[in-house]
Amino acid sequence: ASLGPDLELRPLAVSDHARGHFELLTVLTAAPNIGQEAYIDRFTYMQSCPNTYYTVVIVHKETDQLVACGTVFVERKFTRSGGLVAHIEDIAVSKKMQGRKLGLLIIKTLEELGRQAGCYKVILDCSKDNIPFYEKCGFKHKEYEMVMYL
Ligand code: ACO
Repeated sequence: ASLGPDLELRPLAVSDHARGHFELLTVLTAAPNIGQEAYIDRFTYMQSCPNTYYTVVIVHKETDQLVACGTVFVERKFTRSGGLVAHIEDIAVSKKMQGRKLGLLIIKTLEELGRQAGCYKVILDCSKDNIPFYEKCGFKHKEYEMVMYL
């Protein structure tokens, strides 16, 4: 997978609040805009946790708006001799950019970040509809997701 000349892939920037990050996330789930101040607070907190949160984005250069994003979070275990597990979260590609392999490129980038961080596996939760997409990204089905809302 590769980017077209109209697009740029890079780490999330604190200024991306103004580049439609929340509008992009609405393709995924309810993502009410928390405002610039809270956005900066959350970004700063994540940056203060070394080697833990990696969010990558794809920017449409002409409009200077985000068109895809995804996060990998590194969990530190007691098991597996203090092993590290990568969790992929919040993958979103804007509707008009879907089908251009941007989702695949985001996943491959996050997978590589997890590998470079020293993780022994990468896991994620998804809907049944998205199983074919993740299989094409190289994942296989294992276990079941459980949830309790608090
Ligand atoms: N069903 C079947 N195949 C699919 C689907 C699907 N829903 N989505 C993509 N594919 C296939 C493509 O056809 C392509 O196959 P090919 O290589 O044979 O041509 C391959 O998967 C790669 O597709 P991309 O073009 O990279 O997919 P896209 O950029 O459209 O991104 C994504 C896929 C992320 C699911 C996008 O449609 C999206 O943002 N959907 C809404 C939000 C969402 O559901 N996000 C994932 C939530 S799960 C999580 O975050 C861990």
